[in-house]
Amino acid sequence: MRHPSVSLKPARFLCAFLLLAWLALLTGCWLDGPQSTFDVKGPVARAQLDVFMVTVYVTAFIFVVVGSVLAFATLRFKARSTADEQAEPPPQSHGNFLAEISLVSASVLCLVIIAFPTLKNIWFTYDVPEEQRTSAYEITATGYQWWFRFEYPGEQINGVGPLVTGNELVIPASRPVRINLRTVDVIHSFWVPKLAGKVDMIPNRANHLWLRADEPGYYYGQCAEFCGDSHAIMRFRVIALPAQEFAAWLANQEQPARAVTPAVMAAAGDRPHAVFASFKTAGGGAGDALSGSPEFDTNPFAAWKEKQVADPALENPVLIAEGRRLFQQKTCFVCHTIRGHEGIGVTGPDLTHVGARTTIAAGTLENTPPRMYDWIANPNYFKPGNKMYNGGYTDPATGQQLINLNDAEVNALVAYLQSLK
Ligand code: CUA
Repeated sequence: MRHPSVSLKPARFLCAFLLLAWLALLTGCWLDGPQSTFDVKGPVARAQLDVFMVTVYVTAFIFVVVGSVLAFATLRFKARSTADEQAEPPPQSHGNFLAEISLVSASVLCLVIIAFPTLKNIWFTYDVPEEQRTSAYEITATGYQWWFRFEYPGEQINGVGPLVTGNELVIPASRPVRINLRTVDVIHSFWVPKLAGKVDMIPNRANHLWLRADEPGYYYGQCAEFCGDSHAIMRFRVIALPAQEFAAWLANQEQPARAVTPAVMAAAGDRPHAVFASFKTAGGGAGDALSGSPEFDTNPFAAWKEKQVADPALENPVLIAEGRRLFQQKTCFVCHTIRGHEGIGVTGPDLTHVGARTTIAAGTLENTPPRMYDWIANPNYFKPGNKMYNGGYTDPATGQQLINLNDAEVNALVAYLQSLK
């Protein structure tokens, strides 16, 4: 019988590659991206990373041991001459009590080493620890195709109900936050890689998770369960604020939408429309790059803070008033609510303070006037299958156009929505 000898060259390359990859992992290279599970910023994500690393170490140990034995056997017993190759194989045997019991024990030991931290952290990550429970802040997150609704049950607005926002979840930093997970349609999954994740939002099931941001910051979230056409761009953001700033944010959010008062209109005088003629970009309502401005991409937290403040000098009250009129006339209010202005809709995100968000289209686009123009002008381009287009702008069954917006109308809507700080 011939025993073909195995060339070791590819194996050596593979080993070198794995070693380099492993070193890169250890040094944290490439692992600090916005959705990295290695760059943890809270105790829940840290506990999950710990379990992962224990598993990696144990399995790496097994890999090295088994690999060494395999390499040794391959080298030591390889055929070295034609006579070797043509020799009969040595007598075959199986069943060695000592070898078998050692292998079984070693395997059990490895599993036990992994099981201890796993079980401990399953309990830890399941709910806010007993001693912190009284200080936990409660929020309800609901998944929609394809965006997130956030409700603050502790913040009741007179005659309205709890405070509701969309796609940007603002939380207090350094404080446990307990999040109820719901869905109105299919299964989604709530995931903020640097803080905690992931737990599914399942129909007719009251799931929850908890997280805590060690420090104030801007964190990226993502739906982590396939939920239809635009699942991959069903994103959200988590903004963690120090206690005082969080309280101030809540107070502002509870206010009804900012209004363009007659006084503001008068003060603005006859500011020429030309300055605000068009938010339309060269892309003609369908820009290609999904990335944001360099400032936003490098420091989104600073960009978020900037977004909270209105600059009346840059606003055109006439255009804003026209936008508000169009919001009604074009029936936007059927799906969206702008509390204090118009709106009864609950099928789309609440837009009461949409101008103060850094993103639109569920974290897909930076919230700038040109981007908002692109989004309103051509929502199906950025989020295929979305309900604003299919069912709002066009009838999905017949393809018949229901709402038609010209450039001037989109501009006015953008001016209005951007004014809602
Ligand atoms: Cu929602 Cu994927």
